[in-house]
Amino acid sequence: MEQKTAKLTVDKAGMNRAAELLAAGGLVAFPTETVYGLGADARNDAAVAAIYAAKGRPGFNPLIVHVADLAVAEKYATFSNTARRLAAAFWPGPLSLVLPLRADAGLSERVTAGLDSVAIRVPAHPLGHGLLMAFGGPVAAPSANISGRVSPTTPAHVLDGLDGRIDAVLIGGACDVGVESTILSVVGDTVALLRAGGVTIEQIETLLGAGIRRPADPDTPQSPGQIASHYAPAALIRLNATTPRTDEVLLGFGEHPQAELNLSPRGDLAEAAANLFAMLRRIDAIATTQEASIAVAPIPMQGLGLAINDRLTRAAAPR
Ligand code: TXA
Ligand code: MG
Repeated sequence: MEQKTAKLTVDKAGMNRAAELLAAGGLVAFPTETVYGLGADARNDAAVAAIYAAKGRPGFNPLIVHVADLAVAEKYATFSNTARRLAAAFWPGPLSLVLPLRADAGLSERVTAGLDSVAIRVPAHPLGHGLLMAFGGPVAAPSANISGRVSPTTPAHVLDGLDGRIDAVLIGGACDVGVESTILSVVGDTVALLRAGGVTIEQIETLLGAGIRRPADPDTPQSPGQIASHYAPAALIRLNATTPRTDEVLLGFGEHPQAELNLSPRGDLAEAAANLFAMLRRIDAIATTQEASIAVAPIPMQGLGLAINDRLTRAAAPR
């Protein structure tokens, strides 16, 4: 059944309304520094079920719990010393930690999809953080898009997929990191990368003074959400393209006179990450109108380039 999605302003009244809706079991999209999240009270089974329904998300794919700070996070997960060090260094910020779920956590089982671990993060965005403070509880939030589609970095992207399917969206600005959080599994001192994201592996390895485990085989993902086809635009995508064919429009990186759109003409990875999802949507619309497909220029595999290439590879995956 279609409902009306409230467009909430980010003043005190709007924030309070958003917190009230969450408390009542509603679904509220809100900005984080990575992408817009679709939030619900993580303790409320029906509310969490409604997230899966609104997104068309498979029930086996668990959600990230968003909290205001480390002290609150410790109510839901068991932190090893290594986990605490990572949290101290990178929270608030674009890092999610997958940790042992506490027996007394009281979270809906749908949040963890029945696993004995929970993914948890403290977002840095002032509005996302402000909402968590106003609500005062744990908020389960996947990216606010239809499952399998491109993640949203503006309120318009959220409404594009979810208008009429959710209670409200907080109308903040564009997300400045632009790719989702890095996900690390931390078991004791063993740290493994489950998803490349806004905090780079280089930053993590520098902090720990040691290498971390990388995903071994992309076909057997350790994070249930790392299924191959994801972020799928309508048009086909070819990666590492230096020259577009006549039936392609080029998404550039670095100097590229032939590019239809350019992620970062000066070759800056942070700028490219911030532009990635918005430009994928725009170039998809252009390609679709011209009955063309999309070619993407090579992007270096370092720093934020890992997350960018990960998202592009999934966008280009056979479906
Ligand atoms: O930046 C982000 O992380 C955004 C914003 C909204 O916070 N959220 C986000 O959520 O990207 P989502 O649902 O699109 O991706 C969550 C990922 C999925 O790949 C899921 O499988 C994984 O986290 N995940 C969640 N809980 C897990 C767990 N217990 N063990 C392993 N992976 C888990
Ligand atoms: Mg997502």
